Amino acid sequence: MSFLHWLPVLLLTSRAVGAEYVVPSTWSGTNITASNEDRQAIIEAAIQEAFTLGTSFNADFYSVLAVSDLYNNATTYKNQVTAYFATTTFQGSNMSGIISNEGVDAMRAYQVYQDSAMLNLAIQVWEYSRSYTISSANVASGTIPTKSVNVGKTCSGGATLVGGVFWLTDVDDPTLYGANTALSAYLAQATGNTTYLSAAMDSGAFMIDVIQVTSPGNGVASISANASGCGDIWGAGSFRLDHTGWFMEGLAILPGSTTLGQQNTGEGVGDSTIVQGIGALYHVLQGPADLLTYVGSFLSVQYNTITSAATTPGSNVYANSWIGPPAPFDLTNQTQAVFALVNGAQVNLSSGNNGTASNGTSGSGNGNNSDNSGNPNSSNSDAQHKSLIGPIVGAVVSGEPTH
Ligand SMILES: *[C@@H]1O[C@H](CO)[C@@H](O)[C@H](O)[C@H]1NC(C)=O
Ligand SMILES: *[C@@H]1O[C@H](CO)[C@@H](O)[C@H](O)[C@H]1NC(C)=O
Ligand SMILES: *[C@@H]1O[C@H](CO)[C@@H](O)[C@H](O)[C@H]1NC(C)=O
Ligand SMILES: *[C@@H]1O[C@H](CO)[C@@H](O)[C@H](O)[C@H]1NC(C)=O
Ligand SMILES: *[C@@H]1O[C@H](CO)[C@@H](O)[C@H](O)[C@H]1NC(C)=O
Ligand SMILES: *[C@@H]1O[C@H](CO)[C@@H](O)[C@H](O)[C@H]1NC(C)=O
Ligand SMILES: *[C@@H]1O[C@H](CO)[C@@H](O)[C@H](O)[C@H]1NC(C)=O
Ligand SMILES: *[C@@H]1O[C@H](CO)[C@@H](O)[C@H](O)[C@H]1NC(C)=O
Ligand SMILES: *[C@@H]1O[C@H](CO)[C@@H](O)[C@H](O)[C@H]1NC(C)=O
Ligand SMILES: *[C@@H]1O[C@H](CO)[C@@H](O)[C@H](O)[C@H]1NC(C)=O
Ligand SMILES: *[C@@H]1O[C@H](CO)[C@@H](O)[C@H](O)[C@H]1NC(C)=O
Repeated sequence: MSFLHWLPVLLLTSRAVGAEYVVPSTWSGTNITASNEDRQAIIEAAIQEAFTLGTSFNADFYSVLAVSDLYNNATTYKNQVTAYFATTTFQGSNMSGIISNEGVDAMRAYQVYQDSAMLNLAIQVWEYSRSYTISSANVASGTIPTKSVNVGKTCSGGATLVGGVFWLTDVDDPTLYGANTALSAYLAQATGNTTYLSAAMDSGAFMIDVIQVTSPGNGVASISANASGCGDIWGAGSFRLDHTGWFMEGLAILPGSTTLGQQNTGEGVGDSTIVQGIGALYHVLQGPADLLTYVGSFLSVQYNTITSAATTPGSNVYANSWIGPPAPFDLTNQTQAVFALVNGAQVNLSSGNNGTASNGTSGSGNGNNSDNSGNPNSSNSDAQHKSLIGPIVGAVVSGEPTH
């Protein structure tokens, strides 16, 4: 399978090869000083605190435990995560635009533990989401069976709407979102089924061409699907960060693909999708040293503010505002912080990408390269493509035009 035809699209929107990635002087806390042992102890304590104080654990919570095991090549949480997915059945949702998140959670676990219940749940989620995702046939006919709205052919100066997913199941709602890159990419990687690969590519193209994720501010959060629409329905807001995060997590999996959102801590509220997307990418990324430092610095900033400002020392409880102040325990907020702790903890350690420069010439290029996870399928596998990722990564991470 080849991803080469994706690259020209991506490269059009990226910075020039060889451009430098300079960590902005406005970023503080770009260096994590804790030892690996201390980082892992902090993560384990935060997770233990969640088990102690939390109720109604969801797939998001279990998926970050799997990600921790992935980065550590461990099975510390295997029994708990496996037990959760063994007893979880797909419920559906009237929010078709973000239901894929549950499938992504399942696939994060599947890539580590290889349990078929996880894969089966993810496939059910994908099938459901698919019925609300625009295909080329939908564009040709101007209709989609699950909706009463007319489907337009193009947006944003000619880009096709194929790959956009309707936000709500409500038949009249025209709002399109771009949340499916990661789920489709994970399924393509795990199964080799080209249906998922095509879907991942459609979703990625939608994110780049219609949502314009590589532009300053990472584009828009949503648009209208109808023939006279294409307007920015929601305006600026955190939903933009969610689909940008899923986009990046997808890119971490797909060979020769793209990346990243700009640092956005302005509101101080944590976004676990962004840190997971960037962290997943950092885990497999090879490229110029300055790019790795740039991405690692982003993760370090999140890590440092969480461990200093968002918690009372010794409490193991983390607030949803990562710039503080500390707040009482809440499972959702704690889970978001654990995503940032787990992804940040990889920076500059041998268990994760430690910033070793490589432009991708060392791999075999046969699709079976292994990353630090020990899972041959979890790598961004084509070495030749890795050399092209760098410039694309920078376009999304450094959305600021002044950079
Ligand atoms: C990061 O912290 C370590 C330990 O304090 C220090 O040796 C190193 O110089 C720091 N690096 C940067 C880039 O600040
Ligand atoms: C989705 O369904 C729930 C009940 O399951 C309801 O409370 C909620 O208002 C619905 N949301 C939308 C946007 O329709
Ligand atoms: C790896 O991916 C291939 C398809 O590309 C699939 O057949 C195989 O089962 C996967 N292996 C694992 C361990 O997931
Ligand atoms: C590939 O995935 C699609 C979507 O889930 C499914 O309909 C199809 O049967 C799968 N193909 C194979 C060969 O498993
Ligand atoms: C298209 O969607 C926009 C935004 O939702 C709405 O204002 C407009 O009336 C819709 N047009 C048609 C023809 O449905
Ligand atoms: C990682 O380590 C390198 C070498 O010590 C250092 O230059 C860099 O600033 C550190 N931080 C990141 C985020 O890579
Ligand atoms: C997260 O923390 C904020 C601030 O303490 C709180 O208002 C909120 O209810 C918590 N839970 C969620 C799900 O945001
Ligand atoms: C960084 O990674 C390289 C290659 O995997 C390894 O040789 C080196 O020892 C690592 N450095 C550190 C400080 O972990
Ligand atoms: C990148 O690859 C080229 C060959 O394509 C090689 O000459 C160069 O030394 C490599 N640079 C690094 C930093 O590995
Ligand atoms: C990857 O490795 C597996 C088993 O070792 C092999 O069957 C498969 O053909 C390889 N894939 C590629 C693309 O070389
Ligand atoms: C991961 O762990 C397994 C089992 O402990 C081990 O065989 C393998 O070498 C490890 N992989 C890496 C990359 O450390």
